[in-house]
Amino acid sequence: MAAISMLFLFTFSSALWVLHASAELQTFAHPSKHDGSLSFLVLGDWGRRGAYNQSQVAFQMGKVGEKLDIDFVVSAGDNFYDNGLVDDHDAAFEESFTNIYTAKSLQKQWYSVLGNHDYRGNAVAQLSPLLRKIDTRWLCLRSFIVNTELAEIFFVDTTPFVREYFTETNGHKYDWRGILPQKSYITNLLKDLELALRESSAKWKIVVGHHAIRSVGHHGDTQELVTQLLPILRENNVDFYMNGHDHCLEHISDTESPIGFLTSGAGSKAWRGYTQGLNRKGLNFFYDGQGFMSVQLTQTDANIEFYDVSGNVLHRLTASKQLHSSL
Ligand SMILES: *[C@@H]1O[C@H](CO)[C@@H](O)[C@H](O)[C@H]1NC(C)=O
Ligand SMILES: [Zn+2]
Repeated sequence: MAAISMLFLFTFSSALWVLHASAELQTFAHPSKHDGSLSFLVLGDWGRRGAYNQSQVAFQMGKVGEKLDIDFVVSAGDNFYDNGLVDDHDAAFEESFTNIYTAKSLQKQWYSVLGNHDYRGNAVAQLSPLLRKIDTRWLCLRSFIVNTELAEIFFVDTTPFVREYFTETNGHKYDWRGILPQKSYITNLLKDLELALRESSAKWKIVVGHHAIRSVGHHGDTQELVTQLLPILRENNVDFYMNGHDHCLEHISDTESPIGFLTSGAGSKAWRGYTQGLNRKGLNFFYDGQGFMSVQLTQTDANIEFYDVSGNVLHRLTASKQLHSSL
């Protein structure tokens, strides 16, 4: 009797759980290379029709992309300046994306999140399947997962976390369709993310959002993410948090966990300067100019490099794992 009801309970709860896990964050499978490794580029804050060195950064991405034989590109948001896209026929899509990232090595899948500037336009347009018909590389969703088996990459829609965009909009209009009420949107998102992170068996867990958790650039730390997102990343052994928003390149170490905070928000306009009085704990590297980042992963090692507009490697970080750490 006891055994039967236990079995029932177990079956019942695991069925519920599977349903919940698969119902929420959409997951895309993207296989690693045949040798089991993976490489990709990370770029943020870019769409300016080639201006502010966007084209020069794109050119260097093409060269590095070829050298590393990249599997895909990650865009950390603020994809189209100043105010996102007008609609899914906006010429800015081709002028700032298709016609700029023309190198052969960049003709791969791009996985993108939205930034605050994207929300100032028609945010829904960037999610439109119509854009994928214009350029098949494009995939932008609010929050989703890319599973390469070696690594699982969790893309998080961070703009709705930031209170200021709801309270002091400075004359900007934000496209909050699908987001309101804000509180339950965030609660649900964090619940889904936590569940997916907990269940992940990937060797490397990477979270991507537009806003920095930690930054010494113009905007500094994003308090809402420090309070609400960071604890979940710490509890679930996330290796790296990658973001844009500040128009610079940065590597900051978490002081309470092995998480590395990596900013790659230097896809076009940069040189914004330091803000005085920011939290500089754990700072390893800060570059105020244009550039991008590459990520190379194997079962045991991560190798991450930051490049400037001329393709020089400005900073490199490596991390290692034991082969059978889960045994
Ligand atoms: C383009 O990059 C060069 C080299 O870093 C820099 O000197 C120049 O100011 C940049 N241009 C803009 C508009 O940021
Ligand atoms: Zn931004």
